[in-house]
Amino acid sequence: SRALKPVVSVALQNGAKNFSTTSEMKIKVAVLGAGGGIGQPLSLLLKQNPLISHLALYDIAPFTPGVAADLSHLDTPVKVTGHKGPEQLCDALTDSEVVVIPAGMPRKPGMTRDDLFNTNASIVRDLTLCIASCCPKAIIAIITNPVNSMVPIASEVMKKAGVYDPNRVLGVTTLDIVRSSTFVGEINGVDPRTVKVPVIGGHSGITIIPLLSQSQPPCKLTDPAQIDKLTKRIQEAGTEVVKAKAGFGSATLSMGYSGARFCNAILRGLKGEQNVVECAFVKCSLAESEYFATPITFGKNGMDKVLGYGKINEYEQKILSQAMPELLKNIKKGVEFAKK
Ligand code: NAI
Repeated sequence: SRALKPVVSVALQNGAKNFSTTSEMKIKVAVLGAGGGIGQPLSLLLKQNPLISHLALYDIAPFTPGVAADLSHLDTPVKVTGHKGPEQLCDALTDSEVVVIPAGMPRKPGMTRDDLFNTNASIVRDLTLCIASCCPKAIIAIITNPVNSMVPIASEVMKKAGVYDPNRVLGVTTLDIVRSSTFVGEINGVDPRTVKVPVIGGHSGITIIPLLSQSQPPCKLTDPAQIDKLTKRIQEAGTEVVKAKAGFGSATLSMGYSGARFCNAILRGLKGEQNVVECAFVKCSLAESEYFATPITFGKNGMDKVLGYGKINEYEQKILSQAMPELLKNIKKGVEFAKK
């Protein structure tokens, strides 16, 4: 435990409080789709997380054990194992308390997230089926797009298997929050890490609703046309990256960063830290849809509380109303697919 002391101090610097000993820190995290554009940088960051004891990297790509071997040389205490192909999936999942899923196809220029549905729906369904049997209590963080449909699919699969806990199936929308903080930080001329902007609704196009009226510190923009422009930039920021990568993928590095941040929030909750807040796309009754992105807190069982979104202004109310039919449609598509 002496060798682990520096690890505890890193954990404390990162805001992870109230741990008595390092020996309690035994959390296994599985990354499904670990060989991909998101999976690799995400795993690189998770290998540096002091709250993780074992990182299991799974992908259908044949080079997955190589990614694990590469990462295992980092001088951090996290054990890394590589698992390739469906026959090794259960090994990766067994004893995992957190499962992060970035497996699946990303967008190419001209595609919407919904265009990925046909390919990614069966990937997420099949992976969730294995989670239901190998680690039914794990907290599942879904990065695969379209998130608005993948969370309902995973939830229905867990329901069918009789192991569904809505607090443990979370859609990752953190990149929308990270982008909002970055853009408002630029506008206000401050460190973006000090900016907090809740983003609600869903995770695609018009369903991404940044609550700029609740920005802390307040966003300097006051002109409604400029607010509208910034809102649209946040909604289309993913497409900005897809276009710039010109057919070679979508956001991977910023998503790896965001996924690692979201995973850290889950881990801090698991360790008993209070008041850890992030937005996520979850089952809740805030809107007419069954699932909705909202600020939540984390606890020992995944999502602890749905914080809701408080008071929103007229403009935000309008874009939220406009987004609801699309969000409802995305959710229905996922539910129907899983029920087939
Ligand atoms: P990528 O194509 O670079 O990597 C995907 C990986 O998934 C590949 O290594 C592939 O072998 C693997 N894979 C495919 N089927 C699998 C299966 N059945 N089991 C395990 N692994 C499997 O794609 P990238 O850029 O990493 O994106 C992954 C997903 O994340 C896409 O659906 C993308 O749209 C989504 N995404 C989500 C964001 C969010 O904010 N939630 C942001 C950016 C991307």
